[in-house]
Formats: sequence, structure tokens, C-alpha cells
Amino acid sequence: MIPEEIENYCKLNSSPELSFLAELNRETHLTQVYPRMISGSMQGTLLRFICRMINPEKVLEIGTFTGYSAINLALGSEGMVHTIEVNPEQETIIRKYLKEAGVENKVTLHFGEALKIIPTLSETWDLVYIDADKPNYLNYYQMVFPMVRKGGWIIADNALWDGKVLSARKADKDTVGIIEYNEFVRKDERVENLLLPFRDGLMLARKI
Ligand SMILES: C[S@@+](CC[C@H](N)C(=O)[O-])C[C@H]1O[C@@H](n2cnc3c(N)ncnc32)[C@H](O)[C@@H]1O
Repeated sequence: MIPEEIENYCKLNSSPELSFLAELNRETHLTQVYPRMISGSMQGTLLRFICRMINPEKVLEIGTFTGYSAINLALGSEGMVHTIEVNPEQETIIRKYLKEAGVENKVTLHFGEALKIIPTLSETWDLVYIDADKPNYLNYYQMVFPMVRKGGWIIADNALWDGKVLSARKADKDTVGIIEYNEFVRKDERVENLLLPFRDGLMLARKI
């Protein structure tokens, strides 16, 4: 959404991407069919900084992909990160870079359908990061909500979905999922929320 030259200026005036994250970013682009799914340097750093600010003990991520955001969440937290990925073929690359980042003991990987795995995790979450299949965003929110502590956070990526949220009438099921999610969170009196126009949109919700 931000003009490319502005984004480049922001990157130039930020700390450089950590070397193992740059390597993971590169390998993701060389080996994955949809490398665009990676959160990348700016968003990864933002997630790491958010964790440093709120210092969560328990973090849940839904949608691991190659592990870029999971590593950042773990680097920013003192506690444990649980991350769920439906595709077991991602395991090798994820484990390789968890090790490179030195966070392999801070991250628990779960492979399978998130809607089946979430109820098996009896934790109280300080932060949940939703970044998986868009039609299930609201299901994930409703499922994790009772497990999030008061004052805890639910952050959802792709809340602007490439701007498609503005064309509700010809929306596909992914866009409908995002639009429904944004509307539900906005009306949910149990949270305060901010739709941040950063990258593809981040919906931040704090349980009150
Ligand atoms: C956008 S990518 C995640 C990107 C990652 N968080 C990052 O920043 O690098 C979405 C991931 O969610 C996974 N996914 C899709 N549906 C899922 C489901 N039902 N349960 C668990 N994971 C799912 C996909 O396989 C994909 O790897």
C-alpha cells in the first residue's frame, strides 16, 4: 500500500534485517510456490518489537509458513511461542531456521488443522497472531478468545487484503472472511481495536 520508494526509505533508516532472517527470506523466495506469504523484514521486526514491548509469556501463532514471523515472535519474547501449520512439508525449513536463530527451545511446532489443534492447547495466551486461511479468521478469533488473558492481544494479518476489503459486492471467500472479521472485531465490546494500515493491514485487538 505504501509507495515503494517510501518503503525503501523506511528500510534504509531502520536496523538491517538480521542475517539469519535475510537468509530465510531468500530461501523462502527460492523454494516456495507462494513466497509472498512471508511476513518479511518490516513486519517481522514490528512483531518482534511488539513482543519486546508487551513481554508475553505465551504466544500463539496460527499459520507458520517457513517460520519467519514465529522466529521474530520468539526473539522478542522471554516465554514460549506455539505455532500451528497445516502443511507438514514446511517442517524442515522451519526447524533449520529456528536453530539458526537460536530459538528452537522457545518454539513449539504443531502440524495440522488449526481449528483442531487450538482446543488441545490448554494455555492462557498473552498474544495470538492470526495469519492462516482467511475464511477461518473469525473462527480462530472466537475459538482463542476465552483463552486470551484480560489485557492480552489478538493481532490479525492481511486485514486490508490488498485493498479488496473495499469491494465487498464482488468479494471472493477470502475477502468475505476478512471483511467479516474486521466488522466483528470493530463491534466486539470485549476489545478495543485498531486497524493499522501497515503493509497489508494489521488488526490489533486488546481484550478489556
Ligand atoms: C500467510 S502464511 C503465514 C506466514 C507466516 N506467518 C510468516 O509471517 O512468514 C499462511 C500459512 O497458513 C497455513 N494454513 C492455511 N490454512 C491453515 C489451517 N487451516 N491450519 C493451519 N495452518 C494453515 C498455510 O499453509 C500457510 O503456510
